[in-house]
Order: sequence, then C-alpha cells, then structure tokens
Amino acid sequence: MIFKDRFKDKVMILTGAARGIGRATALRAAQEGAVMVLADRLQDQGEETLKMIKDAGGDGIFLPLDLSIEENAETLVRKAVEAYGRIDIAINNAGVMGKPNPVHLLPKEDMDYTFANNFYTVFFCCKYELRQFMEQGNSGIIVNNASIAGMTGLEGNPAYNASKHAVNGLTKNLALDYQRYGIRVNSVNPSGTKTPMVDEAYAYVKGKIDAAVAAGVDPKEIANMGGRKRMPIIDRQAEPEEQAAAILFLASDDASYMTGATLQTDGGWTSF
Ligand SMILES: NC(=O)c1ccc[n+]([C@@H]2O[C@H](COP(=O)([O-])OP(=O)(O)OC[C@H]3O[C@@H](n4cnc5c(N)ncnc54)[C@H](O)[C@@H]3O)[C@@H](O)[C@H]2O)c1
Repeated sequence: MIFKDRFKDKVMILTGAARGIGRATALRAAQEGAVMVLADRLQDQGEETLKMIKDAGGDGIFLPLDLSIEENAETLVRKAVEAYGRIDIAINNAGVMGKPNPVHLLPKEDMDYTFANNFYTVFFCCKYELRQFMEQGNSGIIVNNASIAGMTGLEGNPAYNASKHAVNGLTKNLALDYQRYGIRVNSVNPSGTKTPMVDEAYAYVKGKIDAAVAAGVDPKEIANMGGRKRMPIIDRQAEPEEQAAAILFLASDDASYMTGATLQTDGGWTSF
C-alpha cells in the first residue's frame, strides 16, 4: 500500500541510495512526496536512482560521496540545506558486508574497512544531521539501518556483527541524548534481503570455499557463514521494498511514540 503524500515536502537525506534497500526506500519516499537528498559513493547508480525519481515526477539531488570520511558527511548536510533550506528526516542506510572471515583469520584492515563503512558512516552522518536539527529547532527524525547481526551473533562475519551492534548501541544513545531536542532516533534490523550486497558477499565466501577445497582444506576452517541458522520463520529472503516500508514507517509521524527502538525487520529471525 502506498500512503500518498505521507512525506509531502519533507526534505529527506538518504545514504546508500545507489542500489538495494536504499534505492527502494528512495523511490517509495519520493512517491510519497519527499524531496530526496541522495548520497552514495557509486556515482552512476546513484544518478540512476535520481533519474528514476525524476522520471516518476519526484524531486531531489544526488551527491557522490564516500561517507566514511567525516568532511563528506558535513558536505552532505550542508548541500541539503543549501538546496532546500532544511532537513526533516535522515536515513543512514549505507553499509557493506565486508570480507567475511573468522577472527583468527581477520586482518585489522578488514575490521577497519567494515567499521569505517558500517559504523563511522552512521556516526559521521548523525553528527551533522543532529547539529542541523538542533539549529532548526525542536524536531528531527533519524533512522539507521543496522541488521539482525546488530542484535544476535552472526556466524563467520565478526566485523559485520560487531559494527552493527555498534550502530544499535549508538542509536539507543542518540535516542536518550537528543530526545530533549524533539529528535527521534530508531533503527531497522533486516535479515537477508535480495540486494547486490548479499550476492557479492556470498560470491566472496564461495570463492574462499572453492579455494579451500582445491587446497585440500576443510572449508569449515575458513568459512562458516550461515552454518547453524539458515532461514527466518518466514522462509524466504526479504524484498528491498519490504525493508523500505519498515524504514519509512519509522521515518513517518505514525511512529511518533517510537525512539530508541531497534525494529526487527527479519521475518522472525531473531525470535528463535
Ligand atoms: N541485504 C541484506 O540482507 C541486509 C541485511 C541486514 C542489513 N542490511 C543493511 O542494509 C543497508 C543497505 O544494504 P543493501 O543490502 O541494500 O546493500 P547494497 O550494497 O545493495 O547497498 C548499500 C549501498 O551503500 C553504499 N555505501 C557503502 N559504503 C558507503 C560509503 N562509505 N559511502 C557512501 N556510500 C556507501 C554502497 O555503495 C551501496 O550503494 C546496509 O547498511 C546493510 O548492512 C542489509
């Protein structure tokens, strides 16, 4: 169901807008009236998302930025305000799966890469979004995209697991620290969703398994992804549009009594 005009004239920042859950969220928010400030480091696909919005009669801008660099997060908010005078909603969705490896085989650079793109992107964006909300007055809505891996253990990918717990920890802190400014901060926690990120991660793991088998090594020694628990209660992957629906619920006034929530959008994954 589309709630026509739910975000009419709201200025919405959305990171990771070039593909996957971000693109689905951008398209639906624009359909419901939001003016979109899109950011991603994938320039061509980000511009394609913006074109899809404009072709459907929506409005917005796209900024090609790597948001793991603090000054780029500041630029994102500044350009949004230069273009539209304010921001109303911010969805910090950009993230990576990284290179899944158990801790005893995990180079520090891989841990740093995953934290840079999953945690520091959210920290930097929140920092400048919050400053802008505080300057504007008594309101503001932030939705961060974490993961089931921010709520439970995730086999085989400790960097992703730890970085997403950090996103949920930050979300809860922000809800506490900024309620006095009328700012709500929540997160969504998806399970497996049909996006390029998942395809790329599984291709990486498959490559490792194939190499192990070729070398006569037991693949369990190096790749343990999805070993114990395979499916949520709803036994299929989510569509990106289903995640977009939950993100935009939290971003809407229907969630006016929600802050500090880590909403499970996981087909029941974390309930058993
Ligand atoms: N797909 C899933 O199964 C799943 C499950 C749980 C959580 N998530 C989370 O949902 C979010 C979106 O993931 P997706 O599945 O749509 O993946 P995706 O790879 O399709 O999209 C993520 C986008 O974020 C962008 N991005 C990453 N790091 C960036 C950076 N430093 N600066 C700017 N852009 C950056 C990428 O370029 C990409 O376009 C991520 O935070 C991911 O961790 C996804």
